[in-house]
Amino acid sequence: MRVLLTGAGGQLARELAASRPAGVELAALTASELDVADAASVAAAVRDRAPEVVINAAAYTAVDRAEAEEAAAFAVNAQGVAHLAAAAAGRGARLVHLSTDFVFDGQAREPYRPSAAAAPLSAYGRSKLAGEQRALEILGERATIVRTSWLYSSRGRNFVTGMLDLMAEREALSIVDDQQGSPTWAALLAAALWSVARRADMPGVWHWADGGACSWFVFARAIQEAAVARGLLARAIPLAPIATRDYPTAARRPAYSVLDTTATYGRLGLTPVPWRTALGRMLDEMLPAASSTAPPADG
Ligand SMILES: NC(=O)c1ccc[n+]([C@@H]2O[C@H](COP(=O)([O-])OP(=O)(O)OC[C@H]3O[C@@H](n4cnc5c(N)ncnc54)[C@H](OP(=O)(O)O)[C@@H]3O)[C@@H](O)[C@H]2O)c1
Repeated sequence: MRVLLTGAGGQLARELAASRPAGVELAALTASELDVADAASVAAAVRDRAPEVVINAAAYTAVDRAEAEEAAAFAVNAQGVAHLAAAAAGRGARLVHLSTDFVFDGQAREPYRPSAAAAPLSAYGRSKLAGEQRALEILGERATIVRTSWLYSSRGRNFVTGMLDLMAEREALSIVDDQQGSPTWAALLAAALWSVARRADMPGVWHWADGGACSWFVFARAIQEAAVARGLLARAIPLAPIATRDYPTAARRPAYSVLDTTATYGRLGLTPVPWRTALGRMLDEMLPAASSTAPPADG
């Protein structure tokens, strides 16, 4: 299977490249190698690489900055997706496109199904929803949208790596406790996406997240506990739960954005890995190789 992967420098794309299955011929193009906002470049890349599947992991992901740069977010997250969809349509290729829990307004009290009404609170969310719509309009059954949430990996800048840095530097931290979501390890999503890429029977919108849900505060506490237990942090610092109103940001975020992933796991024949288990596996990846393979000390 020939696959064209966009946004190859991003955290999810790096997990995809690292887990490329045998039999996949992968063209992984970074933002500097392929700007998805440039229609002509996208058309040329798809013509030259002749992929059977395009996986779009490119995105404008600066959620707060997007409030002041909505046009820039739309250029990548909406027009960019349309360019990829049009190029894929011209060659009979499928598009597997990533989207976000931030398409929802967070008013629900039970997990959002893929069919639930989207009502984004932010410019980023609006741009991602527009991208979903363009992909489905242009490609119909040959578009697969995978929404995910609270993504992290050992390779990128994300909540987990950011918390580890802050916990090492600061004496105490306050963390938002009134937003609920599902942390999701990008490595498990990448493995699922390789299955999705092979399946023509997954048109439309699907949800993927690790099992369970928590607040950012509970997530941070779990990160600290697991990192101290592994020696990744020397000591635990006091963590205090705070309200969203006490941590103002440019973009509004949903108070509740847990995704109902039942259909996706069912279709793929997989069982969700609880988010704490996934977090532990990611932190294990961050352990210096020496600590697991060190030879016995001399003498
Ligand atoms: N991170 C999360 O918590 C989260 C949650 C839900 C959904 N998602 C979605 O999951 C997907 C992957 O996110 P991620 O966390 O891997 O994001 P990421 O680390 O920010 O990666 C996005 C990549 O896209 C590249 N990019 C930006 N503009 C581009 C353009 N015009 N053309 C080509 N590439 C461009 C970026 O390059 P530069 O760095 O050089 O700009 C970056 O390498 C995205 O669709 C995102 O919306 C993420």
